[in-house]
Amino acid sequence: MKLITLLSFSILLVSCNNQEKQVYKTVYQESSYGKKSEHPGKKLLETYCYICHNPTTPENGGRIAPPMIAIKTHYKNDDITKEEFINQIVSYASNPTQEKAKLFGAVRRFGVMPKQQFPEGVLEKIAEYIYDYEIEEPEWFKDHMKENGFGKFSQNGKKMTQSNMPKTLEDIGLEYALSTKKVLGQNLMGTIQKKGTLAALEFCNIKAIPLTDSMSTKNQAAIKRVTNKPRNPNNKANAEELKYIEIYKQQIVTNQVPEPIVIEKNNKIKFYYPITTNTMCLQCHGKEADIKPEVKTKLLKLYPNDLAYGYSENEVRGIWSIEFNKPKNN
Ligand code: HEC
Ligand code: HEC
Repeated sequence: MKLITLLSFSILLVSCNNQEKQVYKTVYQESSYGKKSEHPGKKLLETYCYICHNPTTPENGGRIAPPMIAIKTHYKNDDITKEEFINQIVSYASNPTQEKAKLFGAVRRFGVMPKQQFPEGVLEKIAEYIYDYEIEEPEWFKDHMKENGFGKFSQNGKKMTQSNMPKTLEDIGLEYALSTKKVLGQNLMGTIQKKGTLAALEFCNIKAIPLTDSMSTKNQAAIKRVTNKPRNPNNKANAEELKYIEIYKQQIVTNQVPEPIVIEKNNKIKFYYPITTNTMCLQCHGKEADIKPEVKTKLLKLYPNDLAYGYSENEVRGIWSIEFNKPKNN
């Protein structure tokens, strides 16, 4: 029910300077996601799960987790009810363990899913959407099923009609943030899975900023990750960004679905969205006991003034701070 209350949450703050509009909205704002044709689970799936379970990464090209359709196929068998399906998906995603896992091959290849806390009600909506609707399949999936002896594969479920609403500024900003997060996350988690934490640390040291910059160029936007506790001093948040980090800390601590912050000024859009920790991050950003001695030594060498440690799971590590030109049709 909490989700429904959030649906209608939308505040418009107009500052003394009339040209500056500040809008807080939820990712389900009625204008784009509350439409009858769009199940809210779709957007949530894309926001919370597709960084790892996306349908676009090739079968053998840097994949860090199975696509969601593979999970759906394993869980949705003939004798499962909708309620059991939802319970099982929610149970796994809220606390993944090797004992609970059904996808043995995936656990062997990728390791157990990192534990991460999701805001209240989010997993239920996602699981319901996956159960009821046809979800996106990677191009290679049907062949993969055939090769593995499952015969001709076809999904059953309702078809999702494409919304023909123009993208909101929140949609655009969120797409930039999530696609950059996907690129960084795939490289980071892929390197940890294949070569270990130390190699991944070197990867972050050399590649995090260039990769983020390349996503800026690709999207013609200025995309940054900034924080109140920087590892790399270039990622230090400014006074305004610090204010938003505090807002997001409040929202995450109270288990709310964080809302993109959008500020419009002279046809320029500034967009902010939180970056939160899961258990995987703690190998390099956690407390003393989470960080291996050799990782700690390397960190100190590379970043003598490092502040980016001492975190637990589900904390605000920083925010996306993105600037782009206002599209003509918005
Ligand atoms: C940081 C990467 C990451 C994110 C984000 C993520 N997962 Fe996973 N997930 C994995 C990996 C890796 C596996 C495969 C290993 C395993 O089964 O634990 C997996 C497996 C699963 C499984 C199958 C478990 C089994 O083996 O039976 C379910 C269910 C699942 N994820 C649900 C979700 C849902 C729902 C979301 C979004 C709310 C999500 N995951 C987000 C990495 C992720
Ligand atoms: C293998 C080690 C490693 C892991 C795991 C890791 N990070 Fe980092 N992280 C780094 C390094 C190194 C930097 C500094 C990068 C640079 O110099 O540009 C960094 C920088 C960052 C920054 C930019 C702000 C700053 O402090 O410079 C954010 C935000 C961040 N990490 C978030 C995360 C999150 C969220 C996770 C988990 C999903 C994560 N990191 C996992 C090593 C890691």
